[in-house]
Amino acid sequence: MKKLQTNPPDNWDRSGLPAWTYFNEELFELEAEELFRSHWQLVCHVNDLPDQGSFITFDLLGERALIIRDGESKIRAFHNVCRHRGSRVVEKHEGKCSNVIICPFHGWSFNLDGTLRGAAKSSTLPYLDPHKWGLKPLEMDIWLGFIFIRFKTGPQPSISEILATVVDEVSLYRPSNLLPTTPIQSTIEMGANWKAIRDVDNEGYHVSRAHPSLQDLYGRHYLDEPFINGISRSYGFFNEGQGHLWSVRYYKKLIKLMEPPYSKLPKAWFYLGIFPNSVLGFYPDSVMFYQDIPLTVNKSQIRSSIYRHEDETRIMRLARYLSTRIDEITFKEDIQLTLWTYEAMKSSAYDGIILSDLEYGVRSYHDALRKIIPVMCQNEEPLKGTLNKCNMDVQAGMF
Ligand code: FES
Repeated sequence: MKKLQTNPPDNWDRSGLPAWTYFNEELFELEAEELFRSHWQLVCHVNDLPDQGSFITFDLLGERALIIRDGESKIRAFHNVCRHRGSRVVEKHEGKCSNVIICPFHGWSFNLDGTLRGAAKSSTLPYLDPHKWGLKPLEMDIWLGFIFIRFKTGPQPSISEILATVVDEVSLYRPSNLLPTTPIQSTIEMGANWKAIRDVDNEGYHVSRAHPSLQDLYGRHYLDEPFINGISRSYGFFNEGQGHLWSVRYYKKLIKLMEPPYSKLPKAWFYLGIFPNSVLGFYPDSVMFYQDIPLTVNKSQIRSSIYRHEDETRIMRLARYLSTRIDEITFKEDIQLTLWTYEAMKSSAYDGIILSDLEYGVRSYHDALRKIIPVMCQNEEPLKGTLNKCNMDVQAGMF
């Protein structure tokens, strides 16, 4: 494991983003374009698509993706947009097509490689070239089994390049062989701007008070790094002793009983933050991811999934049950904290925040946002209709 760089610089600015950045519709549109459409999005794992024709769909801010395993077992990514009149060609979140994708609107059919197989009542249309009128491909990168897509090519390198520095650390968990335990979940909706969720998640200062289970599991040895070149690492090394809560005590007991190669994994929960909105969690017993999906400026969704090791034993399964339980409790606690802090930004008493050294991850994340959308540096909210111009002006002054 690479040594963690946890110390903030001297005299760092301890303030957060101004409150207006969490409510401004024009900024939300700019974030959609500059952050979400042009940065890599984690969609699923290759083993979420076990068979030819298996698919997953992924929606993000007006964009719709379809990830599918084709007739030669190759994974492909397309816009889920019919070339006839724009219907979704696949409706469900996940499932399996036979060997053809049939649009539910007028019945155009597409091969699993995206080419147009045929239009319904084709004699009523001119000749349609199967490649020209096929589904539009999306940029895709597969990293150690995890599938990432990008809706718009941006300045970022490939996801494999971004994550190159953590390949050795992550490879210990045999990520390419992981198997899904459930369908991908998109069930948690929150009445908060997506950045408010990130702000709670990007620091461990609150663990000791707000998360009794995590405090019992690793609270004495939690370390996190700021965002550096699009990623951040956090490690919660298990506390010495048995644990006070039954779930933690039993979990730690099971982890000790695990066999090689898993018994050699760090006795820790390792979180890998991937800018701007995804987190992969590596535990001795399982691997999970979660990501914020912005729906509107003040509504967001959490998308998540849990994976097991391919040769999971009964002991590992029990440990996974307990780690999932601890995580579910922690998520609920974080949801409440997010809602309280988001509400506070509207209060007449709110005049910003002051960050502890243990919250430098929040600042480093905000710095990464400001670098891409520099108008977020401004304390005053731009007048309606002027945000894009203000952003360009600040950018011109800054760089
Ligand atoms: Fe798909 Fe018409 S919109 S067939």
